[in-house]
Amino acid sequence: PLIRRDAYQPLAFGVETVDLDFILDPQATLVTNRMRCVRNPDAAAGPIVLFGEGLVLVSVTLDGAAPTAGQVRETGSGLEIDVDADEVLVEVVTRINPSANLTLSGLYQSRGGYFTQCEAEGFRSITYFPDRPDVMARYTVRLEADAATCPVLLSNGNLLETGALPNGRHFARWEDPFLKPSYLFALVAADLKALERKVDTMSGREVLLQVWVEERDLDRTAHAMDSLVHSLRWDEDVFGLELDLDRFMIVAVSDFNMGAMENKGLNIFNTKYVLANPDTGTDLDFENVESVVAHEYFHNWTGNRVTCRDWFQLTLKEGLTVFRDQQFTADMMARASDSPAAAESARAVTRIANVRGLRSGQFPEDAGPMAHPIRPDAYQEINNFYTATVYQKGAEVIRMIHTLLGREGFRNGMDLYFSYHDGQAVTCDDFVGCMAEANGADLDLFMRWYSQAGTPHLKAEGVYDAASRTYALTLTQHTAPTAGQADKLPLHIPVAIGLIGPDGADLPLQLEGEVRDGNTTRVLQLRSESQTWRFTGIDAEPVPSVLRGFSAPVILDIVEDDARLAFRMAHDSDPFNRWDASQRYMERVVLGLAAAHAAGKPMEVPQAFGLAFRALLVNETLDPAFLAETLALPSETYLLERMQPADPAPLRAALIHLMREIGHAMQADFLSRYLDLEVEGEYRYHPADAGKRALRGLCLRYLSAWGGPTAIDLALKQFEHATDMTERYGALAALVQSDAPQRFDALAAFHERYKDDALVLDKWFQLQAGAWRWSDAAPATLDQVRALMDNPAFSLSNPNKVYALLGGYFRANAAEFHRPDGAGYAFWAEQVIALNKTNPQVASRMARSLEGWRKFTPAIQAGIRAAFERVSAEEGLSPDVAEIVGKALA
Ligand code: ARG
Ligand code: ZN
Repeated sequence: PLIRRDAYQPLAFGVETVDLDFILDPQATLVTNRMRCVRNPDAAAGPIVLFGEGLVLVSVTLDGAAPTAGQVRETGSGLEIDVDADEVLVEVVTRINPSANLTLSGLYQSRGGYFTQCEAEGFRSITYFPDRPDVMARYTVRLEADAATCPVLLSNGNLLETGALPNGRHFARWEDPFLKPSYLFALVAADLKALERKVDTMSGREVLLQVWVEERDLDRTAHAMDSLVHSLRWDEDVFGLELDLDRFMIVAVSDFNMGAMENKGLNIFNTKYVLANPDTGTDLDFENVESVVAHEYFHNWTGNRVTCRDWFQLTLKEGLTVFRDQQFTADMMARASDSPAAAESARAVTRIANVRGLRSGQFPEDAGPMAHPIRPDAYQEINNFYTATVYQKGAEVIRMIHTLLGREGFRNGMDLYFSYHDGQAVTCDDFVGCMAEANGADLDLFMRWYSQAGTPHLKAEGVYDAASRTYALTLTQHTAPTAGQADKLPLHIPVAIGLIGPDGADLPLQLEGEVRDGNTTRVLQLRSESQTWRFTGIDAEPVPSVLRGFSAPVILDIVEDDARLAFRMAHDSDPFNRWDASQRYMERVVLGLAAAHAAGKPMEVPQAFGLAFRALLVNETLDPAFLAETLALPSETYLLERMQPADPAPLRAALIHLMREIGHAMQADFLSRYLDLEVEGEYRYHPADAGKRALRGLCLRYLSAWGGPTAIDLALKQFEHATDMTERYGALAALVQSDAPQRFDALAAFHERYKDDALVLDKWFQLQAGAWRWSDAAPATLDQVRALMDNPAFSLSNPNKVYALLGGYFRANAAEFHRPDGAGYAFWAEQVIALNKTNPQVASRMARSLEGWRKFTPAIQAGIRAAFERVSAEEGLSPDVAEIVGKALA
């Protein structure tokens, strides 16, 4: 069944207060739910509508009495209750089986504890309820469980009471003083310990912060706690938003479908995004923990205090909160910088990472059968719409508003948004309306970003006229049709540009008819299909630098020869565009090599490219973190998107060839930078140190790709003597991404050391799933993946394991997955079918790894089609998988 955005209707009855009572038991948990249901004066008359899924209904009473015959009806999706009164106390008792719940949605068990995940529609598999985000209620919760196995009992808000009960059981009562929708409900009953800290909020209230984990993981919680404190301060400083509860809890759980969940006052996290210490977490893990902790914390205002009216509005909270966490991360990266230029470069590193993610995750989505606007018009399964489009492109749309209105204007819009909508469930129009109203701005045309799918192409063409000393820049936009959306309209696109003079310095920009303000970057606003801007007083033909800072989520089409790209790689004052110039040059070189290889010709790396690359490599004035990004090749996923038709085998051959050639040709430079970049002293997570380690790791990867004995010795030495995970894993990754025979021993040693450590083992699985074959002698990845599924640490019911091993193979190893014999696709179908039976959300994520199949060569398409047809013929497909497969084959 298709759910449509335009079919929204408020429910006839809402809920004012909910009182929940959980008698927790692995097989038979009893849930008593007392709801005060109240007629909604603004809605059409109708029954009370309660959703429920997979529940055993024990009893229903209305105001304490049994219902009359036919008053309560079971519908396909729950219960309907007829009532004449405007208010009624509905008590529903249900029984559920948490130990049998492998979907990890609703109430489930993980390692002996009880945990919940309710977003989007998990609450309805806990009890009957009007489980929609526009029904906001006040919750009290009592939970009881076995005291020995579950000594800790948590729920949202403030703890009211705890106590012992007969038979070794105990209970706790919690109250959440804030109105919330059911998707923000949470409970935890488990054997956990907390790291605690008390801090004062900006108004001087003392609040208790807790990070709850299994006891053995306590030594991995400090970074999450620091991140939480930084997040709390940042939201106060930047948005004036304060923590509104007396206690704020983070709980780590090993079995979790997504990254984390912002339940009111009780955030539940995948262990991967909480636990990190120097021995087990890389710099990237530390960074991820910091940003996910921030993301969930920021949801307290953008998501919880103001929530979504319906799930089509998901980007209202997700796009905005991703934008906020990106800004936070950029500020954290820049915090230790000693000059404005250093700070700008540090912030650009975050921006580059964001855009890398967008280009390799969201652009393919927007070009495939799942293409949808950031506010979708229809869905079959809402869980399929927690997408890169809703999250990452949604954040880009918010960023464009920020660019158009400026920092202060954006802040004023946010203040107005909270003053109007605190405590409400609202729409994206409400948000943009506040931004417009607070700034007297016209954002009507801008709203098309919310309704139009597909990545726009932006063409930039410049013409220099020496006689009049003017430079005319014409910007033209075009968005290709996407699934179900044939006609596209022009969008309102902010395009930040600069003009670089022949000496490499930015020119002051003067638009015809305007007074020069001395600025060298300026935001042009394209509001129609095509528009031309004329810059005057230009003495020589400039080099345009278009879309600085990636000011809009578009594909920039601009004709630049190699010399121009090399020039911008050397001189563009905008660090993002400097990085982008290098990416464009690399893309051109790699795709050129791949085409040569496919045509049976020798692959030759252009000399000019080598020079431009080396000039950056030896440039010691550039921030190492920035250089590490700038010298890293574009991701294979992104390159496949740019290759027409996509053909993984020659692309892989080209990547291997290029890595080897660069590593070989510049071995001396890589080596000397590698040696110079060593970080002294004990590991600390710090942007400056992390940047050095990142560049050092990159040097090692190029060196081991080349594979000379000095290079492999270096990697082996680093692997053996590393004192932190960034160095140890970096060395292992370099060895595994090479042809060195020692890589197998290194993998074995790593396994031996960490065989009882679930999160570190995920890295070990993922590395092998993603391994390239540097020679024909290397074992086939598919055989390795199959063998690794038999490792006792692997489990299909743990999402992290599936994402690491199967996801690593399906999503990060195109050349091995798309084997010409189709064995990769048969394996894919087998695993999707198996996962569909236990965890539809995870199955759907794996199924999605082939949705972009129509970009490949005809031979590849034929193999993938057969695999989709096999899954599609399966009985009992979940709506999650059915939607993906249906759209892929449509
Ligand atoms: N709101 C969570 C976050 O972004 C994600 C929850 C996703 N849940 C789901 N069933 N898809 O932080
Ligand atoms: Zn979120």
